[in-house]
Amino acid sequence: MESNYTVGLDIGSQKIVVLIGEILANDDINIVGVGTAPSKGVDKGSVTNLDSVVESILIALKQAEDMADCRVSSVNLSISGSHIESINEAGTWAIDAHEVSPFDVESVIHNARSVKIRDDQRLLHVIPQEYSIDSQGKINNPIGLSGVKLKANVHLITCHNDLVKNLEKAVERSGLVIDQLIFSGVASSSAILSEDEKELGVCMIDMGSGTMDLSIYIAGSLQHSMVLDYAGNSVTNDIAIAFSAPPSSAEKVKVEYGSLNRAFVDNEELIELPSVGGRPARSLQRSILIDVIEPRYSELLTLVKTEIYKLNEKFVREGLKQQLAAGVVITGGAAQIEGLVEVAEEVFGNIQVRIGKPHNIRGLAADVDSPAYSTAIGLLRYKNDEFIGGEDAAPENRFASLFSKVKNWIKKEY
Ligand SMILES: Nc1ncnc2c1ncn2[C@@H]1O[C@H](COP(=O)(O)OP(=O)(O)OP(=O)(O)O)[C@@H](O)[C@H]1O
Ligand SMILES: [Mg+2]
Repeated sequence: MESNYTVGLDIGSQKIVVLIGEILANDDINIVGVGTAPSKGVDKGSVTNLDSVVESILIALKQAEDMADCRVSSVNLSISGSHIESINEAGTWAIDAHEVSPFDVESVIHNARSVKIRDDQRLLHVIPQEYSIDSQGKINNPIGLSGVKLKANVHLITCHNDLVKNLEKAVERSGLVIDQLIFSGVASSSAILSEDEKELGVCMIDMGSGTMDLSIYIAGSLQHSMVLDYAGNSVTNDIAIAFSAPPSSAEKVKVEYGSLNRAFVDNEELIELPSVGGRPARSLQRSILIDVIEPRYSELLTLVKTEIYKLNEKFVREGLKQQLAAGVVITGGAAQIEGLVEVAEEVFGNIQVRIGKPHNIRGLAADVDSPAYSTAIGLLRYKNDEFIGGEDAAPENRFASLFSKVKNWIKKEY
């Protein structure tokens, strides 16, 4: 396949997506292949049935390959689930009054990421936040500057080893090699957030089917990553229970008639609950459907708010200031419900909320013009995490490959 194409494979709890695309010179993404398949054998980011996952991947893969008229050999793969953990660390490196070189940057990052992580966890991302030299902080790119001591702050994201192994197994059995493993929250953020929003402070929520991925950026850097185990599927389950309906019917009425905005719904409006197993269809008042949906969405958003509060307390303890001046950006399939912005603004109180969907897309843009494709698009956009490899290599051994990587080292666009 042509080497300028990148392929994203997003294994979600509801759908599996394969996107084939290329980054154009102006940073737009040209989509040339799209494949989707209902996700079977995945729950909340974990593989529950290997064969089913492989089957779904192969369906989506074939669709995308046929559309793009090419064969895919390797992919950027998303990963999510409540086993994702994040921590902020710092490292220092003596520069002894010479100019900071790429080697110094590599070394200080190496020291910052050398913290012991639990044996069952694997390091997924090492994302530079900021550098400081002696007493001067908030440096984006320290190369060429002088001082005595270089310090780097980094955001580390880890995942559970066994869970990622199962995902890797599914992808490898589908005949694919994994180029990069990327946390879905990081991928979605790179598809929908602007640099200005990250600078002002923003909380990105990818509300999917089984999980909500959170990424919180403050002063331009990623400060917190986590996954909550509830999302759109909880809403569907509530509908199924409230109306004694099978999940497939509940899902249908939610997508077709669901809303969070009572003002637009006529109290008398009746909707049809699709039947299953030959039973007759039933009608119900649409306003009752909203009475079921709204509290669950509010609860999901309140879970996020609690996390933001906890983080704020931690920041205050550490003497930092957390400001989310750009508010909250919600994406993912479940962000498509009508009236979400208003409900979210009420939950978060006095904070602006917008729905995020991928931008700057060309080619088959209409096929991916939805918040449900943020992660998959982000997998195409996300740039190489050069700091992840060579964990045990001494700085001297890593020197050889240094100059080819230099341009990627400095704080990148995430
Ligand atoms: N119009 C809509 N209104 C409300 N919810 C919707 C709508 N369309 C899709 N959804 C919900 O979005 C969810 C699927 O979102 P998405 O496609 O982002 O999930 P996923 O990536 O497969 O799952 P996850 O990221 O949780 O692993 C489902 O719960 C679905 O019911
Ligand atoms: Mg998803």
